[in-house]
Amino acid sequence: MQTADPVAQATAAEVTAAQVAAAEAAAAEAGSGSPFARLGVIGCGLMGSGIAEVAARAGLDVAVREIDEPALSAGRKRLTSSLDRGVRGGKLTEADRDAVLARLTFTTDLGDFADRDVVIEAVAENEQLKADIFGALDKVVTRPDAIFASNTSSIPIMKLGMATSRPEQVVGIHFFNPVPVQKLVEIVPSLLTAPATETAAEGFVTGRLGKEVIRSKDRAGFVVNSLLVPYLLAAVRMLESGFAVADDIDRGMVLGCAHPMGPLRLCDLIGLDTIKAVAESMYEEFKEPLYSPPPLLMRMVDAGLLGKKTGRGFHNYSA
Ligand code: 3HC
Repeated sequence: MQTADPVAQATAAEVTAAQVAAAEAAAAEAGSGSPFARLGVIGCGLMGSGIAEVAARAGLDVAVREIDEPALSAGRKRLTSSLDRGVRGGKLTEADRDAVLARLTFTTDLGDFADRDVVIEAVAENEQLKADIFGALDKVVTRPDAIFASNTSSIPIMKLGMATSRPEQVVGIHFFNPVPVQKLVEIVPSLLTAPATETAAEGFVTGRLGKEVIRSKDRAGFVVNSLLVPYLLAAVRMLESGFAVADDIDRGMVLGCAHPMGPLRLCDLIGLDTIKAVAESMYEEFKEPLYSPPPLLMRMVDAGLLGKKTGRGFHNYSA
């Protein structure tokens, strides 16, 4: 459906053109041999689809890889629905949406990533799975100064770098959910990441994708999750102990502290399985009890009550 608002249409078109121009300028400034214009995204779940959408909207050629056809088709649907939402909200015209879709290709074959300049891995928080993917990518991607990035929330970048023969090109590029909305990206170099890779990654994220960057050392949780996850786990413990009910915990932080959503609803948005995995990585790294996932969180994950994506978490989304 075409939006009826010509001002919104013009603005959307201008933003797209401006983003593309800024991207080209940034790439030229970065002084790289050739621009980082071909992106590969591995995983098309909540985060991967958001990253692919933002990049394709910014004018990049984006290849998306999922593990099998059903996962690929679900990822394509998630991405298309998000673009349709942009059209309904007047942020994109139908023509913009079609142009974005034309910049996206979908595959189950990692071999199709041979020509990629940058690859961002965004699969589940499982160290072995990610390490295997980095090992495979190393053999496939031909560009000698390609950037290999992980969107991991908590797994040390060093461990992923060591799964490749080029750890100097491996860096953390950590986005926030929902990716099209949240401005922040954390850039996380490992001990072996080359300064040139870090600079190129930052130029790519700010110049090409229009995001804002903070840097973190390679410690589980990085900056934001190190602060956020203990807060979310404290809310789960508060609920578990009967101290307050879920609605009151959430309303307390929305109405009392002007947070956009309460901590339990935020757990539901992120996914309880992801929170558990991040908490476990942080606990393993620091052995601090405040990072230890509480039993209620564990049981909810066992029960498949993962939050918004499964229709039920601390709140119900099935209605
Ligand atoms: N995709 C694209 N746009 C979206 C979107 C999505 N999935 N969800 C919301 N939006 C847009 C809407 O279109 C709307 O845009 P507009 O203001 O230009 O019309 C705007 O965001 C607000 O959306 P809504 O009015 O529908 O809903 P809310 O005002 O309730 O906002 C929210 C929803 C953006 C999710 C907001 O509640 C929020 O920012 N919550 C906090 C999220 C947060 O903390 N994220 C970080 C999680 S931590 C993380 O990701 C790290 C990981 O490692 C764990």
